[in-house]
Amino acid sequence: MQGFGKGDTSWFVHDRFGMFIHWGLYSMPARHEWIRNREEISDEDYEKYFKWFNPSFFNPKEWARTAREAGMKYFVITTKHHEGFCMWDSKYTDFKVTNTPCGRDLLREVVDAFRAEGLHVGFYYSLIDWHHTDFMIDSLHPLRSRPDRKELNAVRDMARYREYMQNQVRELLTEFGKIDIIWFDFSYPDIEDGKGHEDWGSEELVKMIRELQPGIIINNRLDLPSAGDILTPEQNTPEEPPLDKEGNPAVWEGCQTFSGSWGYFRDELSWKTEKQCIDLLINHVCRNGNLLMNVGPTSLGYMDSRALERLKGFAEWMKYHSRSIYGCGMAEGLIEPRDCRYTWNKETNRLYLHIMNWPYRHILLKGMEDKVAYAQFLHDGSEVTMQKPLKPNVHSNLAHHVAAGDLILNVPVMKPPVTVPVIEIFLK
Ligand code: GLC
Repeated sequence: MQGFGKGDTSWFVHDRFGMFIHWGLYSMPARHEWIRNREEISDEDYEKYFKWFNPSFFNPKEWARTAREAGMKYFVITTKHHEGFCMWDSKYTDFKVTNTPCGRDLLREVVDAFRAEGLHVGFYYSLIDWHHTDFMIDSLHPLRSRPDRKELNAVRDMARYREYMQNQVRELLTEFGKIDIIWFDFSYPDIEDGKGHEDWGSEELVKMIRELQPGIIINNRLDLPSAGDILTPEQNTPEEPPLDKEGNPAVWEGCQTFSGSWGYFRDELSWKTEKQCIDLLINHVCRNGNLLMNVGPTSLGYMDSRALERLKGFAEWMKYHSRSIYGCGMAEGLIEPRDCRYTWNKETNRLYLHIMNWPYRHILLKGMEDKVAYAQFLHDGSEVTMQKPLKPNVHSNLAHHVAAGDLILNVPVMKPPVTVPVIEIFLK
C-alpha cells in the first residue's frame, strides 16, 4: 500500500461484527434508497420528503443499546447517501437535516450515543450525489432521461463538486472526534459516463484523510486499488477468504441486509430468518471476514419490529457464543465436518465447531485424534464426550466413516435450544 499509508485494522479483525445504518430521506417513500434513480424523480418532486422529514420517535440511545446487545462492536452510518441529503449540520449545503422540520443534527446524536456504548465509529459517505448541481448527469442519475441533459451538463463542473465533497469529508473528520472508519460508496469507471478516482480526486482525498485521522480505516471503493484497507463484498459471502494483490489473506468485511434493500422498505418480503442471519455471521468469520449487518430505520426514527426481532436473535445467540466470534478467524488447514463451520482463536488456541444443521448423534473430526484435550458446548458449558476409533473396522456402527487418526464427538439426539449450537474444542 505504498504511498497511501495504512489504517489500523487490529481492533477491526478482532471485533468482527458491526452495524450498518442506512437512514435518510428515502426512508419516507420507503421503497428503496435508490428510489430517485429507479423512478427518475426530479429535484422538485423529491423536495416533499425534505419538507416533511421529522423522525419524532428517534432515540439514538436505544439504537446504540440494541447494537451493543446484539454483539456489534462498531457501526457505520450514512452521513450522506446518493440522494445527497446530509444527516449533519454541514456548512457547505442547505440540503441537510437541520433545515428539515426535524431541526436536529442527527449524526452527532448517533455518534454520541454509540460512543457512550463503547462502539467504534464509522462514516459512510456517498461519492455519488444526485442533488448537487455540479455533479455530472450520468447513466445512473435520476435526470438521465431529460431531453435537455446535454444542456444541463454543460453548466455542471465536477471540479466544483470535488471541492464540495472534499470539504465535507474534512468537516466529517474534524468535527466529530476520532473516526475509526470512512466508508466511501462508490466508483463505477466501467460503465457509460461512469466515475472513478479522477472525478473524486481520490489520491488527494486519501492523503487528506490520513493527515486528519491517522489510523482510520478506509474502504476500497475510491477506485484506487492500492489505497483500501478493507475489501467490501456486498450481498454475497465469499466461499474462500479473499486475497490481496500480493496473494496474502485480505482484511475484508461483507455487508449484508436483512431484506435486500439498505434503506427502510415497507413492503419488501424477502426478509432473512434469524437463523440465516446468524449463519451469515459465522460464514464471514470462518473465512477471516467481518460482518457489517444493515438496519434501515423508519422515517420516524425507530428500527421496525422485523429488524428488532433479528437483532434480538443476534443478542440471544451472541450472549453465549461471542467467544467463537471475537478474536476468531479461519481454522486454516482443518477439514470442516459435514454441515459445520470452524472458527479458531489463535490466542487461546481454541477451536469452535458451529453446527449449522443438527446431525444424528455423532460428528466426525477428520485427523483430530491426538489434537483435542477437551470439548464443551458454549451455551451451557456441558462436556461433549469423544471416542477414538480403536481400529477401523472394530467400531461396528461407525467403521465405514472412520479412518485412523479421526475423532468422534458424541452429541445429544435433541438439538440444544440455541439457533446454532457451538462446541468449544480445547486444542492440545
Ligand atoms: C451500494 C448501493 C447502496 C448501498 C451500498 C452498501 O453500492 O449503492 O445503496 O448503500 O451498496 O454497500
